Amino acid sequence: MLKTRATTRLGVTHPVILGGMGAGTSPALVAAVSNAGGLGIQGCAGRTPEEIARLAETIRGLTERPFGLNLLLFLADEAAVAAVLTARPTVLSTAWAGPTYDLAGLFARAHDAGALVMHMVSTVAEAHRAAAAGADVIVAQGTEGGGHVGLMGTMVLVPMVARALPNLPVLAAGGVADGAGLAAALMLGADGVLLGTRFLATPEAPLPASYKQVIVESDGHNTLVTEIPDIASGNVWPGAYARVERNRFVERWLGREGELRYRQAEVAAHLRQARATGDVSEAILYTGQTAGLIDAVEPAATIVERVVAEATALLRGWQEQA
Ligand SMILES: Cc1cc2nc3c(=O)[nH]c(=O)nc-3n(C[C@H](O)[C@H](O)[C@H](O)COP(=O)(O)O)c2cc1C
Repeated sequence: MLKTRATTRLGVTHPVILGGMGAGTSPALVAAVSNAGGLGIQGCAGRTPEEIARLAETIRGLTERPFGLNLLLFLADEAAVAAVLTARPTVLSTAWAGPTYDLAGLFARAHDAGALVMHMVSTVAEAHRAAAAGADVIVAQGTEGGGHVGLMGTMVLVPMVARALPNLPVLAAGGVADGAGLAAALMLGADGVLLGTRFLATPEAPLPASYKQVIVESDGHNTLVTEIPDIASGNVWPGAYARVERNRFVERWLGREGELRYRQAEVAAHLRQARATGDVSEAILYTGQTAGLIDAVEPAATIVERVVAEATALLRGWQEQA
């Protein structure tokens, strides 16, 4: 057992959290992580209110444990916010608010709905903003992570955020996939970890087998941080870049972002087609550097249990070396 301020606040057994990855999460994955004693979070970005209600209902049918629902704040409209709060998750998980977004207003509504608020940040300034707005848990996400990230590394960001906010539980995200990562995060001052890429390589993740295989086969050196996915999708992601697999599509557009901007509609259609057919060399594959630590598709519960067991053994067993 690794009891921390995060496990106490969230009401879970293990300080291992599933990141609320939009299309990378499903009720089966969320429930598997929660049933294993961690906290599963369902990504709700881009979903209709009806879909959000259905997802929450399905999760409730699969687990009685706490779970979270995630929103990307720069994209979420009032209907999505209302749907998430009406679903009464244990945790409202949020990320990427624009500079004028009323975080305090949202977090107060979440608290009124009985939810805890977990907000992800990539800088110390964002952490202060979230704390001042009333967040209950801060996720400090470093640039190693898959998906949208900032530029600070987890090793530096986590202790900076933990020192800046000594009274709030902090979760380390970005670059964590095993027990060594959890043990290290605790030593850096975190109260737990949030994993993304590791949980994509599970049978429960709702992704094509070809995407999971890319993660398994990757040695972790072939991801990069780029604006290509956001230019291609027409999104202005506040303060973020995308860490993706350096595949044929990305190679083709590197250094040609100007041209990509005016051919956006055509390229977006191409990407939709690649996604639909599971063509991993022509789709955007959000993948973190932890792909280098992932060698197999494994059940989510196995991952939670192993991460905790490894971290516990490491924390107990460290000895000075001759
Ligand atoms: C495919 C993918 C989609 C993601 N979508 C979201 C999202 O919708 N909301 C969010 O808060 N984080 C999202 N993230 C970030 C994860 O929640 C998490 O912070 C990140 O994956 C941690 O780094 P790791 O991949 O090294 O574990 C996404 C990550 C990936 C890989």
